[in-house]
Amino acid sequence: MTDPAGYRTPARLLHWIIAAAVLLMIPAGLIMTREGLPKGLGDGLFLFHKNMGTLLIPLIALRILYRWLHPAPPLPPSVPEWQRRAAGVSHLALYVLLVVMPLSGFVRVRAGGFPIELLDSLGAGPWLAKSEPLARTAEGLHYAAAMLLIAVLVVHVAAALQHALIRRDGVWQRMWPPAGR
Ligand code: HEM
Ligand code: HEM
Repeated sequence: MTDPAGYRTPARLLHWIIAAAVLLMIPAGLIMTREGLPKGLGDGLFLFHKNMGTLLIPLIALRILYRWLHPAPPLPPSVPEWQRRAAGVSHLALYVLLVVMPLSGFVRVRAGGFPIELLDSLGAGPWLAKSEPLARTAEGLHYAAAMLLIAVLVVHVAAALQHALIRRDGVWQRMWPPAGR
């Protein structure tokens, strides 16, 4: 179904690229921090997590800029007021968490004095002085924000699937490719 009031093509592309990356980053983060992993697996997941997360920072900045320039299309009139408000609050929370997650991860790693191989290979400096208290604070923030992100995403995905499979009211088609402007 082509919905003329859907999100524009760049908004859809950015949503799904970032969604796919975040849905890989979360299990990678949860697994790599477990005790007793084979060293190769732990190192590989850390390498993926730190570098993919760093690459996401400019992509997320672009998404937020694009969203600021192009506000969300209006929801269909069949969506009740409380659900419009819930969608607004949860989408805002997702954007805030998309900023907090990679930045707190970056600070945790750099203030801890650890490498980010992609930036190091480009000759970038650490950009942050080593500080154990700062690294510990960022670690706590990264963990708390990760738990909140997982909780909001469970509701977000359940709501999206409910629109797609049960209500079939066109909300799913606003974001799902191929339609777009
Ligand atoms: C399988 C996973 C996902 C599905 C099925 C899904 C589905 C959707 C759908 C259908 C919309 C449009 C809602 C509307 O029309 O108002 C949407 C919006 C949104 N999604 Fe997702 N999503 C997923 C994963 C994610 C992830 C991982 C994130 C970020 C961490 C995310 C962040 C957002 C945000 C911020 C919006 C609001 C867009 C805006 O108004 O600018 N989504 N999602
Ligand atoms: C959207 C981006 C990101 C998501 C969704 C994410 C998610 C997670 C999750 C779920 C965990 C496991 C929970 C925890 O122990 O905190 C974790 C851990 C971790 N993440 Fe991320 N992360 C992101 C970005 C980054 C970035 C950019 C870096 C570094 C450059 C990073 C570095 C780390 C580190 C070092 C840990 C282990 C924390 C510890 O010391 O226990 N993350 N991440």
